[in-house]
Amino acid sequence: MNNLMKEHWNEIYTWLETDELGWYEKVPEPSIKLLSRCNISKDEPILDLGAGASTFIDYLIDQGFKNIIAADISDSALNKLRERLGKEKASIVSWIEDDITRPIHIQDLRDVALWHDRAVLHFLLEEKQQQAYLSTLKKVIKKGGYVIIAAFSLKGAKKCSGLDVKNYDQNMLAKFLGEDFRMIEYFDYTYYMPSGEPRPYIYTLFQKKKV
Ligand SMILES: C[S@@+](CC[C@H](N)C(=O)[O-])C[C@H]1O[C@@H](n2cnc3c(N)ncnc32)[C@H](O)[C@@H]1O
Repeated sequence: MNNLMKEHWNEIYTWLETDELGWYEKVPEPSIKLLSRCNISKDEPILDLGAGASTFIDYLIDQGFKNIIAADISDSALNKLRERLGKEKASIVSWIEDDITRPIHIQDLRDVALWHDRAVLHFLLEEKQQQAYLSTLKKVIKKGGYVIIAAFSLKGAKKCSGLDVKNYDQNMLAKFLGEDFRMIEYFDYTYYMPSGEPRPYIYTLFQKKKV
């Protein structure tokens, strides 16, 4: 676990309300749009990597998904999400506190039908960190499983919450995932922060090839 990063994120989630976060979405519409393109049964595992306090989890629960995994480096983020959901809904979710750059628990998952990452990969600046992310993704995702990655686009901000980011386009993400994955859809999406500032993202959906 990178303790400095954990402290950084814990501080943010401790001081800000969920709807003050610079990535808060009342309804995570672009992720919902891509999810609607996936053929996933309600009991298959869905991993929200770097879930934070995301409302995507609320959406998945409301849609009847039963095997939802929320993973994050920040226990404060996960606690915030758990509290908002309340006991009953929170019990549907499996909670994993882990660092994707040095994973201990995430890499034990198997047959994940959807890997959802909104605004996490772009914080991994070192090749070694990106490779840890990728090898974990490849290990846990099932054949035919889906990957949604949303990152700051090439036109997007160079920093988020005080940290440098790596900007992506769809081709960079396709190259990153490699030949085992087929791109199904991508789009540019401008997210507006609670402050009203625009944040251009690239959203991508891939499927792991069956053979
Ligand atoms: C910008 S926030 C996005 C949160 C959420 N995906 C959303 O869309 O609301 C980035 C999240 O990634 C988490 N994170 C950052 N680095 C991480 C790492 N190395 N491993 C796991 N989670 C990480 C942070 O704690 C934070 O919750």
